Amino acid sequence: MNVYDSARMADVLSPEGYVETKVADDADLVILNTCHIREKAAEKVYSELGRLRDSKDGGKMIAVAGCVAQAEGDEILRRAPYVDLVVGPQSYHRLPALIADSALDKKSAKSSRVVDTEFPAESKFDFLPKANVNGPSAFLTIQEGCDKFCAFCVVPYTRGAEYSRPMHAVLDEAKQLVEDGVVDITLLGQNVNSYHGDESGLSGLIWKLSEIGGLERIRYTTSHPRDMDDQLIAAHRDIPELMPYLHLPVQSGSDAILARMNRQHVAEDYLDIIEKLKMARPDLALSSDFIVGHPGETEEDFAATLALIETVGYAQAYSFKYSKRPGTPASDMDDQVPEDIKSERLARLQGLLNQQQITFNNNFVGERIPVLFDRRGKLPDQLAGRSPYMQAVHVTCMDPIQADAMFGKVVTVEITGAHANSLSASVIKENGFAVVGAMEAASA
Ligand code: 5AD
Ligand code: SF4
Repeated sequence: MNVYDSARMADVLSPEGYVETKVADDADLVILNTCHIREKAAEKVYSELGRLRDSKDGGKMIAVAGCVAQAEGDEILRRAPYVDLVVGPQSYHRLPALIADSALDKKSAKSSRVVDTEFPAESKFDFLPKANVNGPSAFLTIQEGCDKFCAFCVVPYTRGAEYSRPMHAVLDEAKQLVEDGVVDITLLGQNVNSYHGDESGLSGLIWKLSEIGGLERIRYTTSHPRDMDDQLIAAHRDIPELMPYLHLPVQSGSDAILARMNRQHVAEDYLDIIEKLKMARPDLALSSDFIVGHPGETEEDFAATLALIETVGYAQAYSFKYSKRPGTPASDMDDQVPEDIKSERLARLQGLLNQQQITFNNNFVGERIPVLFDRRGKLPDQLAGRSPYMQAVHVTCMDPIQADAMFGKVVTVEITGAHANSLSASVIKENGFAVVGAMEAASA
């Protein structure tokens, strides 16, 4: 969602004459769009700000946006007095006015620092300009905020209460994206499957989206098991555009820890959902988030998480050591797990997940699968894309004209190699693309 928000901030500022640069030194305005989910992410902001201070000349403005801005507000100005502007995730549609305020204050030698961490009554989505399209794949935020209040999580405090954009607004934005060349949309929300933009919910929205001619691929992320209703599960069976990949975080396999986390379900509920999903769509690739070392986690609880992973079999997953977030209930629990135990458990968990990911990828060698080529490789003859199962797939195309023809399209390729984080492939000659050789994994 931060990637989406950053792009939208660029869209908001473009009518003001701003263009994007990848080089901070060249910029008149640097915006750090920040994440507060774990302590490491939040601390990174201050070290990055320190670097920016060293290169800040008279005219450059520095803004902090996102969830660190929301959570820490004035504290940022105290720790980093050279910051001009602090703007929360619900207020970035006001960036032009906030920048103007800050510049005006500077001129009149008033304190020139502006903080906007309101949860405004208006929705920023009503004020954002048309999204600029960059390639065949796009994100589309349909829902924000969260009312679940998992004990470890800061999101309900930084992103606020659940809000669903109206269905017609989402459909209009999706149609516009498709008109501009997008064929692949990922619907975003902190709790995306709780979407209630109208009474038909997320499955109703996906059905409507699947009727947009030219939209070939639909995904959604991130979901909560409690909101995985039967209609949504059936959508995985009935809607070919809905890709066979689902990120459905479980966090832990232990009922005691799930209760401590306030996840509002037990491990068996999750496994039942997975079984129903697999019945609906047997080739569904699964992903999850895991937290190790949540307060109170014993070796037995951790073993239950490993057992759940063994039962499900993941295509990939994200895993984290529990990180104390100020203001959340878990941060005050008195049975915190020592850091060395967290590290040791994380290593074991990741060992198992990596093994599952490699097994999953190996199964594709020799198979033919449709890949959407949405990125250029480092060399002119390299293309990268995504399989239906979200794997990164690389090919080398000797003819740049043919590489151009493939870019932005779904092309069936033959998988020639499997790596930890990607597949290599060659394009099938009968498709009319004379692609030879396979590029080694760029990212291992
Ligand atoms: N510590 C560690 N991981 C966390 N996550 C959320 N809060 C914390 C925390 N305090 C993880 C969860 C969530 C993902 C986005 O980040 O696994 O699903
Ligand atoms: Fe955080 Fe997700 Fe739980 Fe909401 S459902 S509180 S975003 S972990």
